[in-house]
Amino acid sequence: MAQDDNDGKDLTVADSSVADHHDEAHPGTAVVSRDAFTDPGLVPHRKRVTDLDPKKEKHAERTVYTLFYLSIVGSIWAIAAYMLFPIESNNVGDVRLNTLFIGVGLTLALLAIGFGAVHWGKALMVDDEGVDIRHLTRGSDETRAAAVEIFDVANKESGFGRRTLIRNSLIGALIVFPLPAVVLFRGLAPQDENPVELLSHTMWKKGTRLALDPSGVAIKATDVTLGSAFHVIPEDLNDLEHGKLEEKAKAAVLLMRLRPEDLNELPERADWSYDGIVAYSKICTHVGCPVALYEQQTHHLLCPCHQSQFDVSNHCEVIFGPAKRPLPQLPIAVDSEGYLIAQSDFLEPVGPSFWERS
Ligand code: FES
Repeated sequence: MAQDDNDGKDLTVADSSVADHHDEAHPGTAVVSRDAFTDPGLVPHRKRVTDLDPKKEKHAERTVYTLFYLSIVGSIWAIAAYMLFPIESNNVGDVRLNTLFIGVGLTLALLAIGFGAVHWGKALMVDDEGVDIRHLTRGSDETRAAAVEIFDVANKESGFGRRTLIRNSLIGALIVFPLPAVVLFRGLAPQDENPVELLSHTMWKKGTRLALDPSGVAIKATDVTLGSAFHVIPEDLNDLEHGKLEEKAKAAVLLMRLRPEDLNELPERADWSYDGIVAYSKICTHVGCPVALYEQQTHHLLCPCHQSQFDVSNHCEVIFGPAKRPLPQLPIAVDSEGYLIAQSDFLEPVGPSFWERS
């Protein structure tokens, strides 16, 4: 700090160099500002405990290899869990155990490798400090010329430009090479059925009762109170022996009751609801997550995956988020015993748009 009483005024300056500069300024023109950044320099290097104490070093070494061995155990456990907890019976419990135990194994494998590598680097690898001078990212002209020359030589020696037959056949081979993957992925779809057809239809048909998920207990219109929301499946879903999860993934529905005057129904859908009760597909039209959150005050449905929001009072049109089309509506009615039933299947494909969606 320095004081200047030039012209009879006091000036506080940051350091002596600034004060020197101020000595040369004319009266009333000096602007003295404190330097905003001072170079802190390098803090003195502190040796780590593992550099100072061989016992600590040995301990760190043991910790690192134990973590890596733990990672091996995690990987082997993930493979074992895949075999020990197979998904065979279409049972949700099987899926839960399978994903849980495989996930535990993979988590252990990855975390242990990560922690081991970080600990190795921080505690045992050489702890030197150095300064790298920043350099231009563009190579020098000589380097660039040398690179071009290398490509030229490689082109001449390989004959890539000259032997056009070989070059073109190689390009063809590389283009065709990924095709087996397409065929193999196609093989994941059912062999004897048209996947487009499968995606276009669900289990709902005329007269199918709406039932609670997962119990399968049929729902009466009187059970659905104002403001409530139910997760719904077709009543006969639980009777399926095979493909239950696949069918459920398409047929899951949300059932809500609003005041009839709050519903702005499209004219052609005037008879698709029953006394304010409406049913919409639970499968998000963005990428197919379950739309599981209902805000009863605003009548908005929220998809937790990417925050698409659908307005139930306006035929589930998209009011926010990446979804591109409304949730499909399931036309419903009530049978002679007061149970809610479907009038038909959905009249448009549920879930994300796909290549042949009409
Ligand atoms: S899956 Fe619903 S918003 Fe993306």
